[in-house]
Amino acid sequence: MSQRKTTKTIRLFDMKLSSAAKKEVNNVMASGWLSTGSRVAAFEKELSKLLNVPYVAAVSSGTAALHLALEATGDLKDAEIITTPFTFVATVEAIMLAGAKVVLADINSDTLNISAEAAARKITKKTKAIVPVDIAGFPADYSALKKLSKAHSLKLISDSAHALGSKYAGKTMPELADVSIYSFYPTKNVTTAEGGAVASKNKKLIEKVRLLSRHGLSSNAFQRQKSGGWGYDVPAFGYKANLSDIHAALGIGELKNFEKNQQKRKKLAGRYLQNLSQLSDFIKLPPVAAEICHSWHLFIIQLNFKRLKIDRNRFIAEMSKLGVQCGVHYQPIFELSYYRQALNLKASDFPNAARAGKEVVSLPLHTLLKISDIDYVCECLSHILGRNRR
Ligand SMILES: Cc1ncc(COP(=O)(O)O)c(C=O)c1O
Repeated sequence: MSQRKTTKTIRLFDMKLSSAAKKEVNNVMASGWLSTGSRVAAFEKELSKLLNVPYVAAVSSGTAALHLALEATGDLKDAEIITTPFTFVATVEAIMLAGAKVVLADINSDTLNISAEAAARKITKKTKAIVPVDIAGFPADYSALKKLSKAHSLKLISDSAHALGSKYAGKTMPELADVSIYSFYPTKNVTTAEGGAVASKNKKLIEKVRLLSRHGLSSNAFQRQKSGGWGYDVPAFGYKANLSDIHAALGIGELKNFEKNQQKRKKLAGRYLQNLSQLSDFIKLPPVAAEICHSWHLFIIQLNFKRLKIDRNRFIAEMSKLGVQCGVHYQPIFELSYYRQALNLKASDFPNAARAGKEVVSLPLHTLLKISDIDYVCECLSHILGRNRR
């Protein structure tokens, strides 16, 4: 194995704010208006163009976006909502916050996304919606999920936190689903530090999200200041989840480099796929498909323990010794003690998610990496697997 010239760690995630983002933020700092105002409106407009849907509401996080998107679809008391156990905790947390019962359906082992067949088996008279998650940025099976939702009059609400830049058969997620949410957490493909957005073709739904995100107030402070009026009504029970102009300015700046960054992610992921293709007996690579545009938020491999005499913790520790940081996305929901108890979950009810939960490893993927870094990660991986094959 070649010696690396530097002792630099290859981080799982890394980022450097663009000068455009710093400039946009500085302008807000000097403007005298820091919270929700013209920058949030401009950010929403940019997102709407990118997602090819007319309505977007920017909010304080992806979690708040999903919570409010669910609240805005109607009264969910006593409703059941079907989602995947192979996701970040925010997905189920938001469903529970909206007052609905979480019903989990197993995943497809290749895509790590919810299986439409498994979801179909979980539909009851109480089911109101399906919430697919586009894991790593690989879109869920929207063709099957749309058919299923239509046949049972269910809402399709996508947790597309990973999927800014993803397309399914040429369409963005909010073009396909009733409503979609995005996250702008720092590890995501575009960041606002903290932030999220709800996107839809449905004007009323997005207006409701906006209303709920400002305590149910009929206008926000920026609008009142502009009009010179002071009065407002509170026609709905809401919540505080608005985005500030400082955060939005960061997003506006970052969006300027989005296409370039996406090309970079695609190139790095392509190099992983090319370098690792010969190791298919030992690892499963992320899926690729002609009709799919992958955002490459994460690069998740699955270790084949039938052919390896190393466990995941040791694999990650050995990679770390060689200077490569790896991660795990995700520990399935039924492995988390609160949710296991609250939802009375058993891993054996979700065999594909249970296996994936033990086998997945995320390799470094971010726009500061070079092709030579990817080659080094692959060399380390190949070296470790080579010494531990059975
Ligand atoms: C699948 C998924 N959904 C929702 C969220 C929540 O996003 P946020 O951290 O912006 O609240 C995340 C965050 O990483 C996520 O990975």
